[in-house]
Amino acid sequence: MTHSLVAMSYIVATILFILSLSGLSNQETARKGNYYGMLGMAIAIAATTLSAAVSAYAVLMIALLVGGSIGARAALKVEMTQMPELVAIMHSLVGMAAVLVGYANFMDNTVVIDGVEKTIHELEIYLGILIGAVTFSGSVIAFCKLSERINGKPMLFPGRHWFNLFLLIASFVLAGFFLQQTEHGGGLIPLLIMTFIALVFGVHMVMAIGGADMPVVVSMLNSYSGWAAAATGFMLSNDLLIVTGALVGSSGAILSYIMCRAMNRHFLSVIAGGFGTASGGEAMAIEGEIQPIDAEETAQLLKAAKNIMIIPGYGMAVAQAQHTVNEITKLLREKGKKVRFGIHPVAGRMPGHMNVLLAEAKVPYDIVYEMDEINDDFANVDVSIVIGANDIVNPSALNDPNSPIAGMPVLECWKGETTIVLKRSMASGYAGVGNPLFVLENTRMLFGDANATMQAVLKALKE
Ligand code: TAP
Repeated sequence: MTHSLVAMSYIVATILFILSLSGLSNQETARKGNYYGMLGMAIAIAATTLSAAVSAYAVLMIALLVGGSIGARAALKVEMTQMPELVAIMHSLVGMAAVLVGYANFMDNTVVIDGVEKTIHELEIYLGILIGAVTFSGSVIAFCKLSERINGKPMLFPGRHWFNLFLLIASFVLAGFFLQQTEHGGGLIPLLIMTFIALVFGVHMVMAIGGADMPVVVSMLNSYSGWAAAATGFMLSNDLLIVTGALVGSSGAILSYIMCRAMNRHFLSVIAGGFGTASGGEAMAIEGEIQPIDAEETAQLLKAAKNIMIIPGYGMAVAQAQHTVNEITKLLREKGKKVRFGIHPVAGRMPGHMNVLLAEAKVPYDIVYEMDEINDDFANVDVSIVIGANDIVNPSALNDPNSPIAGMPVLECWKGETTIVLKRSMASGYAGVGNPLFVLENTRMLFGDANATMQAVLKALKE
């Protein structure tokens, strides 16, 4: 393939990636966005493969076949609720690739460059390996935490900030040694020590982050993996990889920022870790009487209501209740009720989790609202149905400064007339904190698997 044809294909792929990102920003265009991304990636892979020497085709085909089948198998097997784990482990592969490409570049004797160009190339190698190693080990720990292979609680060592500072300074000093030694054909030892330090830093950083901050970590690692890919692009002088890496890096950073805002957390305090630990005083004890309700009574309340708000959470994903929820929504709307969905930005276990499930069940987009759009409207709501959600409707986030989730904006459903909460037990949610909503006077608890209870409600509504 000629050089100009490759360059052309790369430009087309870049445009498709940008169109993909803009498509993904809205649920109505998300499907199209995905197709653009897939097409862009197919063009990028084809152009890169065909631009290699003909003798390398066989090896590349084998690599494509092996990598492609592992990816396809993982994507087919993964449950929607395991998506953040899959994303985390995929990021670790990007990190590992950056490290391996860095070492391969370092050992490549065929590159003959001098002066400033040489120094820049060596810095690219150093930075690529540094970011890649942090991304790799951090993502592996995030994967282990999300899949509950290791405890998700923040692990805090005394003096951990000093330790991090020490690692950072050591990396700078080693960069100096590395550049000095490469003058005389060396540099492997500082590179190896820095790689070890970066791996330790990745582990240490993510181990210290726990509970409800995990989504931010995954999107932050997404951003790191983008920068690692961009660094690899510089090492390989591949423009497409640089642009794609920068797109992933910056969109991941923006997403992390948006999530932090949704959880009322500062980005730096998330990275510094320790979320979910003591915050100065005892969190409020939850006292009060639970008022259970059954499916028939729930149906009666819904029949009498005019304005209904449905708040889905992680439990709806676990129960796969979205189709039954859609059936109920259709029925209620046919009866002339105003039914809306209120979506918290971190409901479920990944950004947009609830929107994806509702779209899959064909819930109309125009009745699905973001938290900010409907939070002031709860005073007019007759019945809110909270389906397998917990942290995102926890009033202690607003009225208990000692609560571990204090300051996180939540859906204020308790301001409506009645709230019905569907869950299986009184267990706490992801952040591991008690929820006073369950014992409020206008709350009713509908216990059981969300899909089974929703089906019972649907049956009662039809009667
Ligand atoms: P959670 O606070 O985790 O609460 C989910 C509730 O669903 C649990 O209390 C559980 O109670 C119930 N549940 C589980 N399976 C169920 C089933 N089959 N039927 C009925 N109920 C079921 O979820 P949330 O309110 O959606 O909040 C999300 C949390 O996850 C936040 O803390 C957020 O920070 C964190 N997080 C979010 C993301 C993103 S980006 N969305 C990523 C990682 C973490 P029972 O066990 O009693 O049934």
